[in-house]
Amino acid sequence: MKQDTPVMNCIFSRRSIRLLKSDSIPKEDIELMLKALEAAPNAGNVQPWAFYVVRNQKVKDELCEYSFNQKSVSQAPVVFVVCAKPEVSAAQYGDAGRNLFCIQDTAAAVQNLLLGVHDMGYAAVWIGVVKENEIAATLKLPKDQRPMALIPVGLADEMPAPYERQGWEKITQWID
Ligand SMILES: Cc1cc2nc3c(=O)[nH]c(=O)nc-3n(C[C@H](O)[C@H](O)[C@H](O)COP(=O)(O)O)c2cc1C
Repeated sequence: MKQDTPVMNCIFSRRSIRLLKSDSIPKEDIELMLKALEAAPNAGNVQPWAFYVVRNQKVKDELCEYSFNQKSVSQAPVVFVVCAKPEVSAAQYGDAGRNLFCIQDTAAAVQNLLLGVHDMGYAAVWIGVVKENEIAATLKLPKDQRPMALIPVGLADEMPAPYERQGWEKITQWID
């Protein structure tokens, strides 16, 4: 079986990069990243999400403050904010939509973004440790939107070694 396909190489070589250069990203590259976000699988194709592209330094600094001063948020030229719309999912799937599917859908979108960004030669990190209410206030989010992740994106200024994994052999049971 082939392990060195472009997709497998992208999956295996991606890593979280927290030190980013401030060089700006061309708009057409950002638009392609947005397209990757939106291409994610999502329950019933309900698309319970909204995306924000933050390039304004003052706003990035505020987002940085509300993500416990994780510096990549203020240093990156672009910060994507991926929001879930729980009530859009709930309208279709009730509590499962509100509490589970919209979160899974946005997580799939973030992973699409991370892989797309990596494939395009940029770097990123998924920032989930945030003060949700403060982020919502900073971005003046409508009441039906919940910020799920910040993703600072830019050119890498470091190349950390990959994180160790447990090893799938240890955590997988085959049920034949
Ligand atoms: C839900 C979620 C939240 C995360 N939040 C943060 C975060 O706030 N700050 C950070 O530096 N990394 C964060 N990460 C990135 C993880 O730390 C990283 O994926 C993990 O250490 C494995 O490293 P790798 O991405 O290089 O494989 C988050 C990842 C996920 C999936």
